[in-house]
Amino acid sequence: MVNISDSAVENIGRVLNDPQRPMKERFRALFTLRNLGGETAIKCISDCFKDESVLLKHELAYCLGQMQDVKAVPILKSVLADTNQDPIVRHEAGEALGAIGDSGLQELLEKYQYDSAIEVAETCQIALQRLKWITEKNTTENNLSQSRYASIDPAPPSEEVNIDELRKTMMDENKTLFERYRAMFSLRNLGTTESINALGEGFKASSALFRHEVAFIFGQMQDERSVPFLKKTLEDTTEHEMVRHEAAEALGSIATDECTEVLTRYLHDPRPVVRESCEVALDMSEYENSPEFQYANTLLTVQG
Ligand SMILES: [Fe+2]
Ligand SMILES: [Fe+2]
Repeated sequence: MVNISDSAVENIGRVLNDPQRPMKERFRALFTLRNLGGETAIKCISDCFKDESVLLKHELAYCLGQMQDVKAVPILKSVLADTNQDPIVRHEAGEALGAIGDSGLQELLEKYQYDSAIEVAETCQIALQRLKWITEKNTTENNLSQSRYASIDPAPPSEEVNIDELRKTMMDENKTLFERYRAMFSLRNLGTTESINALGEGFKASSALFRHEVAFIFGQMQDERSVPFLKKTLEDTTEHEMVRHEAAEALGSIATDECTEVLTRYLHDPRPVVRESCEVALDMSEYENSPEFQYANTLLTVQG
């Protein structure tokens, strides 16, 4: 980790908080702040919840969760409680609080598990079961995140490795979302053609939250075999924008010519969340296809 001054961090914060800047630059600034961490970075990220962009704000919450710093708990709590914020943003704040883990968390999640925004309610239900699972297993938070993906996942992978069994569990609408998520993360970790096809079936699930998680996982896997599923999802204009957004970003991280073609087509989608996702996704795919060393390089550009 580089040691940089607070004023350099604040400069990056200014890029993030500047609505005149293109969304892709603001995203790069955000990821740079996430990677740097610390109080000033958290402050700069927190200030940005006043912004107009739902896409950017949900990403702020996601990054705060992944930073795993309790200093972000108060702002995340206020975002979760704020019903003027879009459910996508509140959902991400709930998930981030679950990822950080805080002593008063149980009570808070119980309060929102029946929220009128279904995306928020389901997120809190999953996070509550994750907490229960941790307590029962007597597992530390760290053990939860041991997969080849660096993310803190909303559920631990199931121990089952039979793809057909996992697919059945994942698609069983009578099971809890937590159990179904566990099957989903196990399918991700297997990473075979069969497991990718099983995950693709997940787009038929009735919960939009569930479907957005499938798209998110495909983004983590960066596997070309998932492109047909993602493409179909982005092209479906009746699909929930949270799901289309994740599909767009996943396509950006896979970054083949076919991905670029579909993302370019939706750059002017009537829904801001979708078109901004395509802009950011195309920027990510440019990075994937360039020799540039670090995607989140705002530090270099604002200092230089
Ligand atoms: Fe999400
Ligand atoms: Fe997202």
